[in-house]
Amino acid sequence: MNFTKELIIENTNGNLENHLPKLGIEKVESEIYTGLKAIPKYISPKYFYDERGSELFEEITELDEYYPTKTEKGILVTIASKLNLDYSNLSLIELGSGDASKIRLLINQIPKEKLSSIKYYPIDISQSAIEKSSKILASEFSSISIRGIVADFIHQKSWVPKSNNRLFCFFGSTIGNMTISETKEFLKLLGSEMGKGDSLLLGMDMVKDLNVLVKAYNDEKNITAQFNKNILNVVNKLVGLNFNANEFEHLAFYNKDKERIEMHLKAKKDMIIKTKNLSDKIFIRKGETIHTENSHKFTKESIEKFGFWAKLKVEKVLTDKNNWFSLIHFRK
Ligand code: AVJ
Repeated sequence: MNFTKELIIENTNGNLENHLPKLGIEKVESEIYTGLKAIPKYISPKYFYDERGSELFEEITELDEYYPTKTEKGILVTIASKLNLDYSNLSLIELGSGDASKIRLLINQIPKEKLSSIKYYPIDISQSAIEKSSKILASEFSSISIRGIVADFIHQKSWVPKSNNRLFCFFGSTIGNMTISETKEFLKLLGSEMGKGDSLLLGMDMVKDLNVLVKAYNDEKNITAQFNKNILNVVNKLVGLNFNANEFEHLAFYNKDKERIEMHLKAKKDMIIKTKNLSDKIFIRKGETIHTENSHKFTKESIEKFGFWAKLKVEKVLTDKNNWFSLIHFRK
């Protein structure tokens, strides 16, 4: 997605609602500079996903080493009858809908005669992602009604569709990208917006064998390394910096205390990065790192904790044979 463009969209017509606050490029600029001048340096993982980044992520999901997407989809293909849900008049609300490749697996299992009573709300910060997922879903399931919502669903709540019998879906363990305190705030907010009987289906990547975890972020084809380095090209484009991504090394390791994979970029040499403001430079020493992503891994205890924070009941935990990935059905 094109961040500069996406973040400043004001209004859309047709079957789209836009809840994004008008965010100028100044805001993006100051966020990026703050991170690059902090000790240690960081860049928010939301900047991974320009067009090239989204393409690389797509490639990651197909790698042998990257188990999460395949495992989650494996659980999703037979999930409908295992969830105690009423599929008539269901509002399906998907947070971070992407290309809708996961929700379609669930919809596929709903009896055909019920489809015309179902409403699908894809929610994403990227308008192009919403348009894409709406189109795919509409062509596959013509009787479903679809209403796309462009919003920063992590921090806002104005987007929440008002209805009974809502199923909120948040797949991919994207929740793992947030800090624990952000997760707590987000779950509190979402839980408070939910009404009695509403459900949340949450994808969580579980703590597992260290080797499996580390390999998933250090693949042999170096696609994850390219994905990580591409964030520098994105910030170059966004705010006019001159990073050379090849002057950095990809680092991904498991932080045992914090139960998370961390990705960093490590400078191979000293460098001075010019900004648009000539008197303002970013200094990087050889060996210095830029923190680009946390990907938290979860345990049974995290599941209980999430339910507690959101004031939701854990109705069912669905997992794969290795217990590598879990889809949690929470209910209010
Ligand atoms: C899309 C955030 C779930 O954390 O595993 C993949 C992103 N980063 N390889 C993850 C990612 C490196 C992914 N999420």
